Amino acid sequence: FRTIDALDAAGKRVLLRADLNVPVREGVITDRTRIERLLPTIRELAEKGARVIVCSHFDRPKGKRVPEMSLLPLRTALAEALGRPVAWADDCVGPEPEAAAAALADGEVLLLENTRYHAGEEKNDPALAAGLAKLAEAYVNDAFSAAHRAHASTEGVAHLLPAYAGRLMQAELEALDAALGNPARPVVAIVGGAKISTKLELLGNLTRRVNVLVIGGAMANTFLAAQGHPMGRSLQEAEMHETARQIMAEAAAAQCEILLPVDVVVAEAFAAQSPHRTVAVDSVPQDLMALDVGPETVDLVEARLRQASTLVWNGPFGAFEIPPFDMATVAVAQSVAALTASSGLKSIAGGGDTVSALRHAGVMERLTYVSSAGGAFLEWLEGKTLPGVAALG
Ligand code: 3PG
Repeated sequence: FRTIDALDAAGKRVLLRADLNVPVREGVITDRTRIERLLPTIRELAEKGARVIVCSHFDRPKGKRVPEMSLLPLRTALAEALGRPVAWADDCVGPEPEAAAAALADGEVLLLENTRYHAGEEKNDPALAAGLAKLAEAYVNDAFSAAHRAHASTEGVAHLLPAYAGRLMQAELEALDAALGNPARPVVAIVGGAKISTKLELLGNLTRRVNVLVIGGAMANTFLAAQGHPMGRSLQEAEMHETARQIMAEAAAAQCEILLPVDVVVAEAFAAQSPHRTVAVDSVPQDLMALDVGPETVDLVEARLRQASTLVWNGPFGAFEIPPFDMATVAVAQSVAALTASSGLKSIAGGGDTVSALRHAGVMERLTYVSSAGGAFLEWLEGKTLPGVAALG
């Protein structure tokens, strides 16, 4: 793919596809990571004299102008973060954005209203892509986290203008390549989360590509139950036992070690005050549920990490939202941060819950790379081609 190094930006109108789909609660942006990560590309383009036209989706308005899903609040947030004014157009195609784009001077920035206000966005409608292309002379995609969607602003328009990867897109792709494309070995993957059923393709792809696959979260309960351990009232998928056994067999054939918990923290309920204790996985009481992995398991994971050159992490170990069930996730996160600093472990993590868990553990800045993507990171780990990346050539 071509990066913006190849773009002669001076005086050009550049359409920049960003992912400004930031978390908002009661009208307040709760996490500005995606805004901050976009700044280097905007600044670089503006400094080179480009007229930067930023577009993005926000939430899922399904082709309607849902007022709560306007990108207008992001105009202020972006201007504050950039430290320069940001112009606004109330639509992403048509006379208003065309006039606003034409009025830009070199180095100025314009933000367009939500691309998903048009049904053509998600349908990858060529007419919408053409409307977007009309605004600019070049297209830069910095929305890795939306690259798993073949939409008009992520895929269609890339075929209509000279297309380039922005710095965030570039950083994401380089980090992922270092994680799974061409990684330093041994590679350890940690996969957590509630369900095997939503991560089947991911587990399949990883067993073929990594040396050790550590399984945490509620999905570990399903694997343990499939091995015959009674898991009490733990969350698990009874109908996935056969699948879990198949994954273990495939891993063995591919010489990938699957590391399952050897001890778990059990409690009566998923609640802060619930009394809890640690038990071996073969003695989970009938009336209790596993909500985290135990310290012996953490030791085993840390031993694998000390041997590893690369770590890919998606999904927490336990129900980290309610302490003390965050113990294993926080302990492993801190070891990963320490090993990244001391022994050059390349640590790459991603996915919505994973990022919250790493932030909770206070190590966000200390890993080699934390992806800003949720679904796109998962699809990439599944080995899929992302349409928004493929369209960059
Ligand atoms: C995300 O937050 O993962 C991206 O912005 C994509 O959003 P979507 O799942 O609504 O397509």
